[in-house]
Amino acid sequence: MNFNLTEEHILIRDAARDFAQNELLPGVIERDNTQTFPDELVKKMGELGFMGVMVDPKYGGSGMDTISYVLIMEELSKIDASASVMVSVNNSLVCYGIEKYGNEDQKNKYLTQLATGKTLGAFCLSEPEAGSDATSQTTTAEDKGDYYLLNGTKNWITNGGRAGIYLVIAQTDKAKKHKGINAFIIERGMEGFFIGPKEDKLGIRGSDTHTLQFNDVKVPKENRIGDDGFGFTFAMKTLSGGRIGIASQALGIASGAYELALKYSKERKAFGTQICNHQAIAFKLADMATEIEAARMLVLKAACDKDEGKNYDQSSAMAKLYASKVAMEQTVEAVQIHGGNGFVKEYHVERLLRDAKITQIYEGTSEIQKIVISRGLIRG
Ligand code: CAA
Repeated sequence: MNFNLTEEHILIRDAARDFAQNELLPGVIERDNTQTFPDELVKKMGELGFMGVMVDPKYGGSGMDTISYVLIMEELSKIDASASVMVSVNNSLVCYGIEKYGNEDQKNKYLTQLATGKTLGAFCLSEPEAGSDATSQTTTAEDKGDYYLLNGTKNWITNGGRAGIYLVIAQTDKAKKHKGINAFIIERGMEGFFIGPKEDKLGIRGSDTHTLQFNDVKVPKENRIGDDGFGFTFAMKTLSGGRIGIASQALGIASGAYELALKYSKERKAFGTQICNHQAIAFKLADMATEIEAARMLVLKAACDKDEGKNYDQSSAMAKLYASKVAMEQTVEAVQIHGGNGFVKEYHVERLLRDAKITQIYEGTSEIQKIVISRGLIRG
């Protein structure tokens, strides 16, 4: 067992840390206030290789491993979880989904644009009535011979208003239940595809979340991913990797809040000394650091399982379940250590607290992670 990062891992982690400090930090409060994320920053993340971290260089990716990916995700999330969710969806849902399960034509046509950050990707599974219960898709894709006719509504779609390429999960044959579901690549601008209103959110406010509407969209047959009926397995497999991304986002939110709290506790004085010298604060810091390190181990374990070609359904669900709980609990502690200052925007921890909550909801709620983990335990 080796707990040491390689030199390459340290370099990529430091590059992500520098980018987060120098490029993401300056405008992060403004972006949270105005619910915007500038295209130039997405472009810069593409130039640094963050938009296609694990993608093969022949498709414009960085060709790195999942450990590198979670290190990047942690560093970006410490500063700006809105930026990191865009990165996560693009990498672990859209790029991975196309690279692993798409055919060569689909990879050549779509992957390079996504991996280089020229185009953003979105993953469209959730519906107004099908969030956790993903087999109950009501979006339909009727087989019309050389094309499918796509109809339905998707909601809470990250990158929804900005993406150029959308992976859409839809029901082709209702009688076959989850075996009648397919995944399609949809391009922005296809006739009948409408981008609905942007959500006004509690957290990750800089990220772009929309409802999408498909009205008789003609989807060419060649845009289906995999064999007929593969869509549900595709979604589940892809989400297992997505959960590693969100687990590392949660880890970053927690560690970002902890770092701010530690710094603040060494600067702020009360009762004649820095507050870190009071045991009430020192013990909080000890608990925070321990919980965060435990979450980090689970995140790295899941990443390692994926890199080693092992099944990572369980370890990714465990990492997400635990890291998101740690993010929620430790951002509350970070606000508490900051006292009144923790409640105002300029100290950043209130935003991290708001951002933490979504990590217990998207890409499967905590309850869904427990279903995945417990079924794995029982089935053996
Ligand atoms: N890999 C391969 N196959 C899998 C699988 C996996 N990881 N998980 C399930 N399956 C298969 C099962 O083997 C089963 O197939 P068979 O009948 O052929 O054996 C089939 O799929 C149905 O499985 P279940 O009976 O377990 O299905 P279920 O409906 O009881 O529960 C669930 C499945 C785990 C609850 C699933 O619905 C789920 O993960 N729901 C959460 C969905 C989710 O995460 N949504 C997030 C939206 S994306 C998002 O948030 C992105 C963003 O923008 C940030």
